[in-house]
Amino acid sequence: MNITIKRILPITRYTKRFARMSSGLSYIDVPENCQPSNLFKQWADDYKKYTHSGIVLFNLATSFKNGDVANRTLALQEISDDDGLIFHAKFNSLKVKQIEENPKASVSFLFTYTNETSNKRISQQVRMKGFIEKLPPSYSDKIFEKQPLFAKLRSVLIEEQGVPVCWEELKKKHDDLLDKVNKGEIKLKTPKQLVLYKIMPVKYDFYHANENEIGDRILFSKSKDDKWDHYHVTA
Ligand SMILES: Cc1cc2nc3c(=O)[nH]c(=O)nc-3n(C[C@H](O)[C@H](O)[C@H](O)COP(=O)(O)O)c2cc1C
Repeated sequence: MNITIKRILPITRYTKRFARMSSGLSYIDVPENCQPSNLFKQWADDYKKYTHSGIVLFNLATSFKNGDVANRTLALQEISDDDGLIFHAKFNSLKVKQIEENPKASVSFLFTYTNETSNKRISQQVRMKGFIEKLPPSYSDKIFEKQPLFAKLRSVLIEEQGVPVCWEELKKKHDDLLDKVNKGEIKLKTPKQLVLYKIMPVKYDFYHANENEIGDRILFSKSKDDKWDHYHVTA
């Protein structure tokens, strides 16, 4: 029956029709004592491997105490030894004002890619709730040193995010600074506006769906004895 359809229909229409006819139920298989930070690292590593990307982005939502909420895309700089998510920010940005008033975070990662080993299209989401801590300036130096040149220049040139800018003026400042750096006249130092924060998750929500399958979800939260409990929920 399939062969007949394949002969009659062009291959793309055949694939689409097959996709419309198939279904399954995805399953997130984790051991009983699974640490959510390990599962997160494994998913992030798979995403980087199969997308050939060196960068993991996430969405961070924060709010003032009155509930005025904002979210934005950030780059994950590092995962700390105690499983915190480290990101950088500008000390006078909206997010920092919100964090200083109300250090609660809601975070979401989206990992979509084709697993080249199984040839399956994968959709994953990891959501976390947690608390945000400011890291000491020594951490800013460490992260600044690792940044590519354009990011270092951005950190130095842009003192405040979201303020009106004259593009021509900024371009001139950028080109002058780049020239001085290239000639060795200036060594870029960590600017005071670059601050580092760490999100410590207290809840994790993992979602995984293979192509043409119904997703699975696992929630992790801490039990009274400070161990991670988990259970499957509907996706
Ligand atoms: C791909 C991408 C990565 C970004 N990474 C960062 C980052 O690591 N740190 C940061 O402060 N802003 C980053 N931004 C800019 C933020 O999304 C946002 O525009 C900026 O931080 C101002 O946000 P706020 O006004 O809510 O504080 C990134 C934007 C994009 C599109």
